[in-house]
Amino acid sequence: MKVIIINGPNLNLLGTREPGIYGTETMESYLTTLRKRYPSVEIEYYQSNVEGELINKMQEVGFSYDGIILNAGAYTHTSIALLDCIRSLQTPVIEVHISNVNNREEFRRHSIIGPGCKGTIQGFGLDSYRLAIEALLTLNP
Ligand code: DQA
Repeated sequence: MKVIIINGPNLNLLGTREPGIYGTETMESYLTTLRKRYPSVEIEYYQSNVEGELINKMQEVGFSYDGIILNAGAYTHTSIALLDCIRSLQTPVIEVHISNVNNREEFRRHSIIGPGCKGTIQGFGLDSYRLAIEALLTLNP
């Protein structure tokens, strides 16, 4: 199984960004652990702070990979362009959030991209990404 984790804006700062909410581990360190735990899953990683670059990457992989694990960051709550992109792809997209966006500010409670996604996993810290891999393994037995 070949999957990609795509992280949106400000998620390059994991480890130092609001550690009380997002923890102290960097994405690079977490990815090392994740890849060791799932040696049979090819896990690619991409991060961009730019909306159009996220769309370009999703279009590039979205017809051949087995799954896209997308943490769109704040674009979750704003981007019709990302929703349209997700709906245009063949590859299932799992929406992921590190924090539980339902118990934070009101403006985080609505996901524009959610209706296009296969499902959503949120609130389990970085482990949310691993749970998304488990979901994709179930979809691709
Ligand atoms: C986030 C939640 C978003 O509301 C926020 O803008 C982020 C991170 C999360 O992983 O919890 O950048 O997607």
